[in-house]
Amino acid sequence: MPELSMEVKEVKDIVCYALGSFARPFDSTELIRKIIDSLRTTTGSMRGDLLIYQSDMDILFFSETSSSDSGSKKQAKINIADSQRSAAVKALKSGYTVLVDDVTESGLQSLSPGSKTLLAVPVIYSDCIHGVLNLEHNDVSAYDTGTVTWIEVTCSILASLLEHSYQSERIFRLNQRLIDSMTGNLADNDPQYRAHAERVSSMAVAIAQKLGLSRKLVEAVQESGYLHDIGKAGVSQNILVKPGNLTADEFQEIKKHPILGRFMLKPLGFQTEVIEGVVSHHERWDGKGYPRGLRGDQIPITGRILAVAEAFDVMTSEQPYREKMTREEALKDIQNQAGMQFDPSVVEALVKLDLKNM
Ligand SMILES: [Fe+2]
Repeated sequence: MPELSMEVKEVKDIVCYALGSFARPFDSTELIRKIIDSLRTTTGSMRGDLLIYQSDMDILFFSETSSSDSGSKKQAKINIADSQRSAAVKALKSGYTVLVDDVTESGLQSLSPGSKTLLAVPVIYSDCIHGVLNLEHNDVSAYDTGTVTWIEVTCSILASLLEHSYQSERIFRLNQRLIDSMTGNLADNDPQYRAHAERVSSMAVAIAQKLGLSRKLVEAVQESGYLHDIGKAGVSQNILVKPGNLTADEFQEIKKHPILGRFMLKPLGFQTEVIEGVVSHHERWDGKGYPRGLRGDQIPITGRILAVAEAFDVMTSEQPYREKMTREEALKDIQNQAGMQFDPSVVEALVKLDLKNM
């Protein structure tokens, strides 16, 4: 039985990352490409394809193709009704593996000229056929029983990946709709709500990248940047839109929004790092922030970054209560607060950004 040439750790990391995130759709393309490439190379095959079944159009479309001939012509789809001599169609229709040891005597047709052995394995998850894996070899009887079993097992992993991908896409769309409906009032009352959230998110991502954070944390910063004030949807609109100064009680109400954000996002399956960013974006480096009065490194890094990104955006955009600052003025103000309101390392990362081109 051949050994999979992929780095097992790499696969594990990608899958763990994907399973941990229900707040964004899982893109399985990269992982599937690696699996198809590995299947082809470890079995010495000429080509390997993952074909996805599209029942409404009655086609198999080529999702991934790996070929030993880099100049080979790529096909887009197989029309099932017109392809009775295709091993992949036969596997799809029967639901069983089709192994042809010598295509010249089989009545079937290979996808590549010169192929002798054909192997088509249905990719099935819980009685649902997602597609077919197609492998072709230029020797006859190229795949022994052990290899076929091993490929079938790999196909069930592929099926699980595809299923997870489809499900996470559905959950993502549902979450998007839920979040849009939760923030509908905020956006209605404050036309700048979504634009501010997007600016804070992209500024926070730039800072996180400058700090060299992991991909997982950068994405958490991106999501929490966009969602940081979502908890305001749970605060009375009268307070949010009140012109002039707030009373002490009203300010206490507003200060609940980071915690309310956690209550809203946790049931939706957001990662801990995203929720931490939302909860802690009003904490201060010197411990005088809210809601928990955390200090220094006690504050999650996502929250420390958001605090700086949000301050910069608020200072440099139009506000009803004061003139907007220039980028230089805002930077100076933020630098003056390094070590007090803000994490000095995050401020340093902000200063290093090419803000003119953002
Ligand atoms: Fe906030």
